[in-house]
This record gives sequence, structure tokens and C-alpha cells, in this order.
Amino acid sequence: RIVYVNGRYVPYAEASVHIDDRGFQFADGVYEVCEVRDGRIIDEPRHFARLKRSLDELKMAAPMNEACLSVVLTEVLHRNRVRSGLVYLQVTRGVARREFFFPADDVPPTLVVTARSVDPLKGESVAAEGIRVVTVPENRWERVDIKTTGLLPNVLAKMQAKAAGAREAWFVDRDGFITEGGSSNAWIISEEDVLITRPAESGILRGVTRTTLIDLARKEGLKVEERAFTVTEAKVAKEAFITSATTIVTPVIELDSAAIGGGKPGPLVKRLRSGFHAIAA
Ligand code: PDD
Repeated sequence: RIVYVNGRYVPYAEASVHIDDRGFQFADGVYEVCEVRDGRIIDEPRHFARLKRSLDELKMAAPMNEACLSVVLTEVLHRNRVRSGLVYLQVTRGVARREFFFPADDVPPTLVVTARSVDPLKGESVAAEGIRVVTVPENRWERVDIKTTGLLPNVLAKMQAKAAGAREAWFVDRDGFITEGGSSNAWIISEEDVLITRPAESGILRGVTRTTLIDLARKEGLKVEERAFTVTEAKVAKEAFITSATTIVTPVIELDSAAIGGGKPGPLVKRLRSGFHAIAA
């Protein structure tokens, strides 16, 4: 297995970053996860646009331009013979003696790229069954719109889900509205087949899969309402699902032990899942 670290392609076992890397010291880094299908990176332009936004919001330098970054991602996929799976990239503010203030401008950012194969059948069997979700109080900072590696609240939320026999946790804000999942966006479908998902401007990460799914739904003549929804509303929804680069569109069949859609994946979610790759760039 080969990974890319700061200009070199190295064996996984030999790959390392410095102990004073700000990613390690402060979670002072951003990342992207992209799906790979038939050897192609899905929605790469949208992932690059979001990466640029994350970097800009944190006043972090880009490690290289997008054309070069694309070459590195493709090279890592090739060297690992990944046809279907995931490619991961992480940029940190680089290596400097531990000090809260940003280092000098001449400190280069750290770039790490890894890839791995994932059996597509695995995702299909999870989606065929549907997943359980539990709710947890929203306890993250206000800049969850930035895709930073500071994911400890997400890790703890997902561990809580796991302990309850669920696969994802949905954060709930103080007013009882669901924000998003630990590593995915949250959706429900109303009795009238309207897709409902929280506006990207308030308390969530603007998921690339979310954006592409909105395009797909509208193209199929479905109504999409970007508005917050409550736990109570979700529990009586016709269908519910999550989106992310790792799960694409995966049905939610249970929320805090309340069955959704009779505890089985519904027809509309199935249709959206199968239509996704026809539209994803
Ligand atoms: N997570 N919200 C959060 C908090 C996420 O971490 C993610 C993705 C999403 C969905 O975004 P996208 O559709 O662009 O994958 C929403 C990735 C997959 C991860 O951390 O592994």
C-alpha cells in the first residue's frame, strides 16, 4: 500500500508526519473524502471547491493547485489499484514548534493523500437493510461548515450510536431540530414525497453528496425543502436517509427505537440511491 506525504509516494508502513505538525498538536487541518467508482473520483470539482473554502476560512495556504492535486489523487489511486473505494486527503498548517499563533508564512502546509478499496457490495447490503440512528445533543463548535480534522465530538457521538446498536448519530440542537449526522447529512421525506434537509447555511457541513442529491431530486421532479426538521417530525416521516461520500444515499429505518417507514427502506430512497451515479460528475 502506497500513500503520498509531502511530495513523496511512500509505503504505508514508512509514512509519517512530524510530532510538531499542527494537525497533530491542534487539529489545525482540513480534509476531504471522495468516493471512487470505476476508477473515477466522484464529484471531484465540488470536493475541491469545498477544500478551497475550508482553507480560506482558516487562512491556510493550499499545498498545490487543483490540477496538481488531482494528479496526486489519481496517482495514489493507480499505485494502489483502487477502482472502487475512497480517496482521502488532508492538509494541515504544517510543522512548527507548539505555539498557538500561526507560524510564519514560509512554513509549508502538510499534505497527505491515501486511498483504499471498498467492496461496493458491502454498501449495497447495508443500504438494502437500512440503518439505525440515535440522537445526541449538539455539542460541536459553531464552525462545522469547515471540514476540519477536529472530529472528537463526532467520534464520541458515533461511539454512543455504536453502543446502542446504531450506525449513525444525529446531532440535535437546543430547539429540538436535527442538524446532521456524525459523518453524514440528515434527510427525511414527508407524506407528500417532499425531501427535507437542513439549510447548509446553518449548523451543518455542506455535503457534496447532499448538493448532488438536491440536483438529482429536482431533475426527477421531486420537491426539495431546505429547512430544519425536529426529532418528532423525523420519527413520523415517511422515509429517512443519510448522505455522505462513504454511504452515498443510505436509508434510516429507526430513530431512537422509533421505526421509520415501517422499519424498512422505502421506495423513494431506493430510487434516489440507484439514480445517484447517473448524475454525479
Ligand atoms: N464525512 N457532515 C459531516 C459532519 C461529515 O463528516 C460528512 C462527511 C458529511 C457529508 O459530506 P459529503 O457528502 O461531502 O461526504 C456531512 C466524511 C465522509 C468523513 O468524515 O469520513
